[in-house]
Amino acid sequence: MAEVTLDLREVDREQAYAELRARTASVLAGVTDPIARMATVSSLVHHAFGHLWTGFYRVVEPGRLLRVGPYQGTLGCLEISFGRGVCGTAAAEGRTVIVDDVGAFPGHITCDSRSRAEIVVPVWNPAGELIAVLDVDSEREGAFDDRDARGLESIVRCFAE
Ligand code: SME
Repeated sequence: MAEVTLDLREVDREQAYAELRARTASVLAGVTDPIARMATVSSLVHHAFGHLWTGFYRVVEPGRLLRVGPYQGTLGCLEISFGRGVCGTAAAEGRTVIVDDVGAFPGHITCDSRSRAEIVVPVWNPAGELIAVLDVDSEREGAFDDRDARGLESIVRCFAE
């Protein structure tokens, strides 16, 4: 396979997500296995932007429990209850959560003390069920904004198609 890992750190954010979305679609064409998809999306997003941690927490008990899935980065915690931390909040509320300063987020779960900012995006299947959340952590406070929310939401939409 040709080199497919993009480095988009110097590219305008909206343009970067457009490129990443196109690359993700082309790499995942014909791939339906959700774990293979999660592994591929984690790798592409992580290396495109040089994040601290990028990965999925899968819904293993709907409304109750998330368990770690494919990720890139240092050791992530294994299980998170719905409603706990940033991931559990995004899962419980079914919406994207952006945290500029994790120190100010009540109940934030610290897996890596270098983490300063975080974005968590819900992942839905074609039936409209929540199957996972995509969690991206950065060492830079205020690293994420609406462009990341829209960009990551558009990338994980492939799980709903
Ligand atoms: N920070 C997350 C926990 C997962 S790790 O960062 C990988 C949270 O509070 O949801």
